Amino acid sequence: MDHSCHTLVLLIVSFGCLHQTTDAIHMEKLANRKMCADRYCSYVISVAKVLEDYIASDCRFINLKKGKMIYVYSKFKPVEGTGLFWLGSVYGDHYVDQMGIIGYFPSNHVNETHIFEKKTIEMPTADMDFFCA
Ligand SMILES: *[C@@H]1O[C@H](CO)[C@@H](O)[C@H](O)[C@H]1NC(C)=O
Repeated sequence: MDHSCHTLVLLIVSFGCLHQTTDAIHMEKLANRKMCADRYCSYVISVAKVLEDYIASDCRFINLKKGKMIYVYSKFKPVEGTGLFWLGSVYGDHYVDQMGIIGYFPSNHVNETHIFEKKTIEMPTADMDFFCA
């Protein structure tokens, strides 16, 4: 490998890192409208059981493991060309470890087993909904 080739590789690597940093700040909006149990999306809408594993693609999402239970806090209104995502947290065997881990997952990977709030309110999503570091 000659010298110019080394420089090119370095450039590509550093561009890749810069790009990732930018992604963490300016997240693409997954939807424009969401459904929640309350204004602050702080109440659990439902409990759902994971039917299929899901690997989070970035920090906005959470991993799902088949058989685990999920608390659902909000549901996006579907956008054409994308899957339908819900916001939730895993109710795990290690409950304390899981607390605070909240993120999006594809709703077709779970099955709601218990609905707490049949009446939800619809509101616009905010940029903050898609923020993660
Ligand atoms: C979803 O849950 C309901 C009961 O809560 C059950 O009857 C149904 O078979 C489940 N669906 C799947 C795909 O597991």
